[in-house]
Amino acid sequence: MADDRAAGDRTALPGEDGSVWLATSERTDYAALDGGLTVDVAVIGGGIAGVTAAFELVEAGQSVAVLERDRIVEGVTGHTTAKLTSLHGTVYDHLLSEFGEREARQYAAANEAAIDAVESTIDERGIDCGFERTSAYTYVESADATGKLRDEARAARRLDLPATYTDSTPLPFEVAGAVCLDDQAQFHPRKYLLALASAVDGEGGHVFERTRATAVDAGTPCRVDTDRGSVRAADVVVATHFPIYDHAFFYGRMSPKRSYVLAVELDSEPPEGLYYRAEEPYFSVRPLPGSDSPRVLVGGENHRTGRGGSTAERYRRLARRARSRFDVASVEHRWSTQDFASVDGVPFVGEHSPGTDHVYLATGFGGWGMTNGTAAGRILADRILGRESPWAEVFRPTRLNVGASARSLIEHNADAAGQFLVDRLDPSAAVDLDEVDPGEAAVVNVRGESVGVSRDADGAYHAVSAVCPHMGCHVEWNDAERSWDCPCHGSRFDPEGRVLDTPAVEDLERYDLPELTLTDAGRE
Ligand code: FES
Repeated sequence: MADDRAAGDRTALPGEDGSVWLATSERTDYAALDGGLTVDVAVIGGGIAGVTAAFELVEAGQSVAVLERDRIVEGVTGHTTAKLTSLHGTVYDHLLSEFGEREARQYAAANEAAIDAVESTIDERGIDCGFERTSAYTYVESADATGKLRDEARAARRLDLPATYTDSTPLPFEVAGAVCLDDQAQFHPRKYLLALASAVDGEGGHVFERTRATAVDAGTPCRVDTDRGSVRAADVVVATHFPIYDHAFFYGRMSPKRSYVLAVELDSEPPEGLYYRAEEPYFSVRPLPGSDSPRVLVGGENHRTGRGGSTAERYRRLARRARSRFDVASVEHRWSTQDFASVDGVPFVGEHSPGTDHVYLATGFGGWGMTNGTAAGRILADRILGRESPWAEVFRPTRLNVGASARSLIEHNADAAGQFLVDRLDPSAAVDLDEVDPGEAAVVNVRGESVGVSRDADGAYHAVSAVCPHMGCHVEWNDAERSWDCPCHGSRFDPEGRVLDTPAVEDLERYDLPELTLTDAGRE
C-alpha cells in the first residue's frame, strides 16, 4: 500500500492540474437545447472535427445544430499539443506499403490542405490565435532506428511532400536522425475553434452545450435524441471522439491510448519547431509562445487506457525526462488526454456504414487530430453538400484493408478479450477500506458484485459498479486523473460514475455505501 499511496498523491505531481489551452482562453457558456428543433445538419460533438464541419456547412448556407455533451473544445481538442503538421511519425512509408500510392497521396494532400485551410480562415476572419508557420521533425535517438526515418523521408518525397533527412535539429540534445518537413504550423487551438463556433452560432447555426446525445435514428429525416429534446435533421455528423452511434464494430477496430503533457518553463530559449520521437519512449516537444518566459510543451508516456500501472508515475517520469533534456526552471501545467488509433493507422471519416447514407462520422485520429480533425470536418461538409472530395477515399469507414489491419486488429481484440477473461476471474481477498487513502481506490467484490470504491481528497468514499455499461469489462482506477477507465474500449467515468469518455453513453451505477455490506467485501 505504501507505494500505491505515493502513486496516488496528486500533491506530489509536477505542475498545476489542467490544460494550458483552457487556462489561457475564455470559457464558453452556450445554452442547452430546450425542446425540439429541425435543422439541415445535426453535429454531435464540439471538438475540432465537429466545429470545423459545422463552420464549413454554415458558411455554405446550411442550418446547423452543434450538440455538445459538456462544453465545446474542452475534451481531446482542449488537451492537445496543437501541432498542425502532415508529418505523422512514419505514416507515409506505412501508407505506401499497406494502402498504395493513390491513398497515400490523398492522406498527405488532405493534411497539407488542412493546414492551409486553417491559415486561410484565420486570415479571413482575423482570428488572434498565435498561428505561426514552423518546421516539423520526426526524430530518433538510437542509431539503429535511423533506417526507418530515411525510408520515411523517401516515402514523403515520393508523395510530393518536401521532406528531408537530417542528423541535426535545433533540439538541445543530440539525435541520431530526423525527417524534417518545413512550412508546418502551431497555434492556440481553443482560440481558433472558439472563433469558429462563435461564427456558427451567429451565422445560421446553433451551438448547444450540456446537451447529451443519447441515440441516433438514421431515418428520413434523421433524428438525434438528447437529454434535452430531439433534433430532426437531413444529415447527422457523429464527431464524438469515439462514435456514440456504433452499428459497425468500431469498438473492435480502434484502440484507446492515453498520453501526458507538461507545460514547462525553461532557463534557456526553446528550440523552434515541432518534434516527435518515433521510438519508445515517445517524447514530443514544441515551443509554447505567449508569455515573457521561454516555455515548451513536452508530451509522452503513451499507454493503452486502463493498463500500464500508476498514471501519476507517468507524469513524474515525463518530468524527469524533460529535466534530462532541457534547462527546466519549473513545470507550470500538466494534463493528459485520450485518443483512438484505428487498426490500419488511418482515421475513419465518411458515411457511417452501409444503409445509413445520411449519418457520417469522424474518429480514430491516432494522436494527430489537429490536421486529421480539420480534414475530417472539411471532407464531411463536402459529402453533405454533394461536393466531390478529392481525399475521401482513403478515410472511408467501410474500407477493409486486411494487410494494414490484420496484426493490430488481432492484438487489439485479443487485448480486449483478455480483459473480459481477467474480469471473470474472482480472486477475492479480505479488504479493509480504511487502507484506501484519499485519492486511492480499490475494486471490491460485494456479494458477487464488483464495486469500485474511491476516496476523495476529503476522505469521503464513493462507490460505483466496476462493470462498464458499454460491454461489461471491469474498469480500472486512474490515480492521476481520479477516474475509472475501461481497458476494453476506452470509456472513462468520474468517481461518481459519470461518463467522461465514450463509447459508453450510460453512467456507472452508483451505490450508497451504507447499502453495501462492506464487511462482506473482498478485494478483486
Ligand atoms: Fe467497451 Fe468498456 S468501453 S466494455
